[in-house]
Amino acid sequence: MTLNETFARRRDPAIKLHGPDAFAAMHKAGQLTAQGLDMLAAEVRPGVTTQRLDDLAFQFAMDNGALPATLFYRGYTKSICTSINHVVCHGIPDDKPLREGDILNIDYTLIVDGWHGDSSRMYGVGEIPRKAERLIEITLECLRIGIAAVRPGATTGDIGFAIQRYAEGERCSVVRDFCGHGLGQLFHDAPNILHYGSPGDGPVLKPGMIFTIEPMINLGKPDVKVLRDGWTAVTRDRSLSAQFEHSIGVTETGCEIFTLSPAGLDNPLARR
Ligand code: MF3
Ligand code: CO
Ligand code: CO
Repeated sequence: MTLNETFARRRDPAIKLHGPDAFAAMHKAGQLTAQGLDMLAAEVRPGVTTQRLDDLAFQFAMDNGALPATLFYRGYTKSICTSINHVVCHGIPDDKPLREGDILNIDYTLIVDGWHGDSSRMYGVGEIPRKAERLIEITLECLRIGIAAVRPGATTGDIGFAIQRYAEGERCSVVRDFCGHGLGQLFHDAPNILHYGSPGDGPVLKPGMIFTIEPMINLGKPDVKVLRDGWTAVTRDRSLSAQFEHSIGVTETGCEIFTLSPAGLDNPLARR
């Protein structure tokens, strides 16, 4: 989400603490979203259009009694975001065919019984360059490291710090203009989860908090610009960008990941 989206109506909304029923509902929504991303993995190949992937994502939602949260969200008219190569996020599906060597992020949010499961993954189109593979590996590790920092008593800044330290240690950069977010019965809620920062900064994590972590990592500089369509965010230096996203809930001992792939496809490079 864009920074400031959360605070459009209210400056400092309280961070909700959800109970077991909400966790069960988020598990259900998250698992359906992940199953949809699994389904799309089999469809990504050279020649396929992102509009075709969007049609499949819409149909998957309809077939499973779910609604795509992005459809008609703030004027957006698609069921997924498809961000290719130097597109950082919010790429709009269109009729251009995917090409061998492209890297693609598909970001999918399904509303199930009123609860939002929000997740995104990278997909390689055919054989991809080694530098793209490396960026994908680093970005997935950033998400893992961010998740590993989640436990009661830690802060949102601890998450961002851990991600930034690792990404910059690998000579990559962390996008500043978009962040993770609280979610549940709302798509975008407090708190903001920055993917950079300092230990101890930001709100203290408590059991029952539900939010996304969704680092966007660039091979070049962190700067982005939004294209004239009002959505598509690209790297200013046109360097490759990657992103992974999970929806998680803070538990007594750590966290529960709601959007883990039922087919074990969370790492797109694992079985290649
Ligand atoms: N799913 C995105 C997120 O992770 C939000 C996309 S909003 C859209 O927060 F309108 F661009 F689709
Ligand atoms: Co998302
Ligand atoms: Co999100």
